[in-house]
Amino acid sequence: MLEKLQTLKTEAISAISAASSETTLREVEVNFLGRKGKLTEILRGLKDLSPEEKGKLGKASNDLKVELEAQIATKAVELQQAQFGKLAESEWLDVTATGEEALRGRLHPITQFIEEAEKVIAGLSFTIASGPQIEDDFHNFTALNIPADHPARDSQDTLFISGESDRMLRTQTSSVQIRYAESHKPPFRIVVPGRVFRKDDFDACHSPMFHQLEGLMVDKDISLANMKAIMEEAVRKLVNPEAKFRWRTSYFPFVEPGLEVDMSCTVCGGKGCSVCKQTGWVEIVGCGLVHANVLENVKIDSKKWSGFAFGFGIDRMVMLKHQIKDIRLLYEGDLRFLKQF
Ligand code: PHE
Repeated sequence: MLEKLQTLKTEAISAISAASSETTLREVEVNFLGRKGKLTEILRGLKDLSPEEKGKLGKASNDLKVELEAQIATKAVELQQAQFGKLAESEWLDVTATGEEALRGRLHPITQFIEEAEKVIAGLSFTIASGPQIEDDFHNFTALNIPADHPARDSQDTLFISGESDRMLRTQTSSVQIRYAESHKPPFRIVVPGRVFRKDDFDACHSPMFHQLEGLMVDKDISLANMKAIMEEAVRKLVNPEAKFRWRTSYFPFVEPGLEVDMSCTVCGGKGCSVCKQTGWVEIVGCGLVHANVLENVKIDSKKWSGFAFGFGIDRMVMLKHQIKDIRLLYEGDLRFLKQF
């Protein structure tokens, strides 16, 4: 019997030291000390032994029980410390670091994209323009052929500045088409990167705040062919040289005809994923030929001049460029994500 106890001890001790996680350690504990455990069984059998044997074996078994419990407790602390050690290594943060470290940061992938877009599109003779993020009704809606009672306003509900029905977070960079055209005479070509806001879902490919890259070209005899050439060139240079496009008719009050363009999904290679909603295509831009009413609203003679406009969704293009599966990653500020770009 004593021998049996000795074997059990050796077996238990090697199992404890071999345990590589808290779960396996717990299994070892149950196996030896649990209700149906090996040592428990021996302790239970003691009652059938002679008083003399009971005394000897009883003490030895109890000693072993106490020893194993102590060893398990020590091992548990060891395992926990190893776990903390690993965490400390991967989540290491130097709280004493000086400000100089921060200077080694990098630009956010959206900012990188905007800078690149400005370069590429400036190369196509477009000027970079900008406008305010807090807009008035005229520039965000009315001048863009979206009067107060127009149903197209529904899909662009936004936050209004408290107590001022005429001031709101802009819903589209198209407002800058109006601002620029008010103060410049055609011909001109502008590109406008910027942040926009509208009531929207917050899921893998929607956000109530996102970025657009607006383009506007006003000149003589502008056609859809000019627009298509410029847009395809820009996307191939900025996102993917092999990009495929799907042009669909669509409706925006400030263009006629209006189109939307889908790009082949680079996240799944067209097979279907959550980013392309299993279709293999992602909508990246609305565009069209500038509506005559819009030109007239900014006092440009629509008989003499024509133009095209587009509004790319920058965040979606960044996702397609880097195969990012969830738009929210772009706004969380998690360094482990950002350091990849
Ligand atoms: N402003 C439109 C939107 O936000 C996109 C667009 C821009 C459409 C320019 C046509 C022309 O949905």
